[in-house]
Formats: sequence, C-alpha cells, structure tokens
Amino acid sequence: MTVHEAEGDVGALFHRAGTWADMTTWHERVAQIRRTDPILRVDTPGYAPFWVLTRHADVLAVSRDNVRWLNTPRSVLGPDEDWQRILDGGMPVPASLVHLDGAKHRAHRAVTNDWFKPAAVRHRQPRIDELADLFVERMRQLGGSCDFAQDIAQPYTLRVIMDIYGVPEEDEPLMMDLTQGIFGAADPEYLGDAGDPGERMTASVMQFIQYFNDLTDDRRACPADDLATVIANGEVDGGPMGDIERLWYYIIVATAGHDTTSFALAGGMEQLARTPDQLFALAGDDEAVVNAAEEILRWTSPVRHFMRHATEPMAIAGVDIPEGGRVLLSYPAANRDEAAFADPMTFDVRRSDADRQVGFGGGAHFCLGAQFARRELRTMLHRLSRELTHVELAGEPEWALSHFVSGVKHLPIAYRMR
Ligand code: HEM
Repeated sequence: MTVHEAEGDVGALFHRAGTWADMTTWHERVAQIRRTDPILRVDTPGYAPFWVLTRHADVLAVSRDNVRWLNTPRSVLGPDEDWQRILDGGMPVPASLVHLDGAKHRAHRAVTNDWFKPAAVRHRQPRIDELADLFVERMRQLGGSCDFAQDIAQPYTLRVIMDIYGVPEEDEPLMMDLTQGIFGAADPEYLGDAGDPGERMTASVMQFIQYFNDLTDDRRACPADDLATVIANGEVDGGPMGDIERLWYYIIVATAGHDTTSFALAGGMEQLARTPDQLFALAGDDEAVVNAAEEILRWTSPVRHFMRHATEPMAIAGVDIPEGGRVLLSYPAANRDEAAFADPMTFDVRRSDADRQVGFGGGAHFCLGAQFARRELRTMLHRLSRELTHVELAGEPEWALSHFVSGVKHLPIAYRMR
C-alpha cells in the first residue's frame, strides 16, 4: 500500500513531530499498520518516498546487514528542502558515526571504542553511584513532589556523560540547550528564538563547533583522562582524524549520551508511578533490576528511528525496494511487535523477553553507549526501589515533540521516601 497525504497521511506518524505527543494512540495505530502493511511505503509531499519497517525481525535484519544497507549522511529523516537549506546555511555535511559507513565507520568507531567496553564502563560505576546518590538526595530535598523528568532524569544523565567527557558542570546547561536544538528543534518549548527547526539546528551545530574547537585546543595542549582528550587527539589510519569528523564525533557523543537515557528514565518512571508495586518489588533484587532496565528501554524506545539506504535492489517480505531506496527503522514499533514480545502493550518489569528489545539498534552501528545507558538506569532503579515508599503521578505527563529522539519531558510526581 502507498500512503498519500490525501489518504490521511499515515506516514505522518513517523515524520511529523506532533504525532509523538500521544504515544498510546501512536502505538495503537502503528500496531494496525504492522498487521496490514509491515513494510509501509510512504509517499508524502516534501519527502522522497521511503519505506517504514515496523517488525522486530525486519528492523534487526536490515540493521545487521551493513554491506547492502548504508547509513549515509542522511541517516535521520527530514524534509528534502530542509536538508538543502541546512547545507546551504553552512552546516558541515554530517559525518558522525551514524553517518559513516564501512571501513571509515569502523576506523572512527575504534577511536573511542575502548571507553565504552563493559570493563571500562564497570570501572566508572563508583562515580555513577555517587551521582545517583546526589540526585536521590535532591529528590529528598524537593520534599515529596517534583518534575521527575526535569529535576532528576535530565540533570542526572547529563552529569554522568559530561563527567566522563570532561565538560565542566557549568557548561551543562549549554550542552542541554544545544542538544535540544538538534534532537528536538520541532518542539516549540525547544525552538527558542529560531524561526524554524532547520534554523535552530544549524545554529546549534555552529555553536557546538565553536565550543568543541576551543575544547580541542585545550586538550591538545593539556591532555586529561577524559573522552574529550581521546577525541581531540584521535587518530584514524595513522593520521589525525579529519576536522569535520572530529567535530561531528564530539557532537554525537555530547547529544546521544543524555537526552536518550533521560527520556528512558523519565518514561520508565511514568510507568512505575502508575504501577508502583512493580518498582518496590525490585528492591535488593539485582537480576530483576537488570530486567527492569531492559523493559524500560523496550517500552520507551527514545530513539524513534534511523534510516538505511539500499546499495542494490532489495526485497523485504515480498516488497521490492529499488537501489538507493531508503527504509526507516522504527525502533518503538519493533519493540511492540507481538511476534517478538508476549503481550507487548503491557509494561512488565518481570517479562522474560525484555532482553530482546532493539532500542539500541543492531549491527555495526549498535549504540556505542549502551553499557553506560544500562548502568545509569540500573543504578537509579536500585536506589528508587529502596528509597521510595510511595509514588504516584501528580499531573499529566508531557511528551517532547520530535520524530527522532523523544519521550516524557515533564513528569509531575508525588512521593514519600524512607
Ligand atoms: C537509552 C539510551 C540510549 C538509546 C535508546 C540509544 C539508542 C541508539 C540507537 C538506536 C543507535 C543507532 C543504532 C543503529 O543504527 O543500529 C545509537 C547509536 C549511538 N549511540 Fe546511543 N542510545 C542511548 C544512549 C547512548 C549513550 C549513553 C551514549 C554515550 C555517549 C550513546 C552514544 C551513541 C553513539 C556514539 C552512537 C553511534 C554508533 C555508531 O553509529 O557506530 N548512546 N544509539
């Protein structure tokens, strides 16, 4: 089936920011699409046609075939006109890990890979513990009610990543603002003074460039034990990393590392506040906490998509995709596929299939920071399950409007602590 704007534009579910404000409806509609058109061709004004993959097996298969499916600089969906305008506006062609392919991607990923391996991340656990303690204490000081997304999830996840990055605490608000300019520019709350999302995104990238150029100079002159130093001095194929690749490297680590995890934690907390017994049952049970974090990742899927481009004519479940055709990997859809998960629309921290979640993608581009994200979630869940004796929603959750990275951005809760 081809979906046109005139037919109700089902494709808007995947590209229009506003449709991400109500995830219950989104999932109901997408479940229907998965049943009738699991490989959905979208032909909508302003976009070259693309196909949406909504099934777990298809998302995983394409993610793992990094030879016939490439990321390319356009690995995030946007209106074709915006793309040209952004480049004309002077933004360097995207060249971060999610925009590179093949040997070039492998060589660049190798620059920081050691920092993200399980043993290296384990080594950081004491610091993650310290920061989690700090934010649990902040909850105590807030005296029984807070906006969990803004007061706890955002600053905690931001602090963990900026700490290993080597970005000083006073620059964290700037990092947050610029990240929102790239991931969530379509949300009026994040648009700022910019006229439109494209303008906001270009301005954010330019400001990041300025900031990271200064940081590079600093870390080349005075190397430190942090990720900024590794990127500043990174070598690829025996020579220094290219300027553009280095800048985009900084940007992806600075952006991908916190908004994602923050949306996962806030969205998980929303569900736990609705079913608090699930939270309290985690207290002191390490295995259950590990499983709960996977269920939160499945349920929230804060990265909404990435694109892949066919290097040759391909067929997925009988649907032909021409050479150069592009598919949208819908992680939230795949994570609610009834063929992969029992009773997928139920949030259940004890489910036995939670570890099949594909919220971190798969194949060569599998999320570099997955071990950090998992540890951040588990570390906070450990504490919340022990320290809270009561928690409930104290208002309606509000969702960030973005078709790329989004989730619960305001979560009013009321709680009591031990
Ligand atoms: C809940 C939290 C997170 C989620 C849901 C998430 C999700 C993802 C997804 C879906 C991808 C693309 C995978 C693919 O194309 O197959 C990705 C890539 C990436 N993520 Fe994460 N991520 C999270 C946290 C983090 C953290 C904490 C970092 C730390 C810096 C990070 C850094 C990256 C980087 C650098 C890439 C690009 C990897 C590559 O292309 O080789 N992410 N992430």
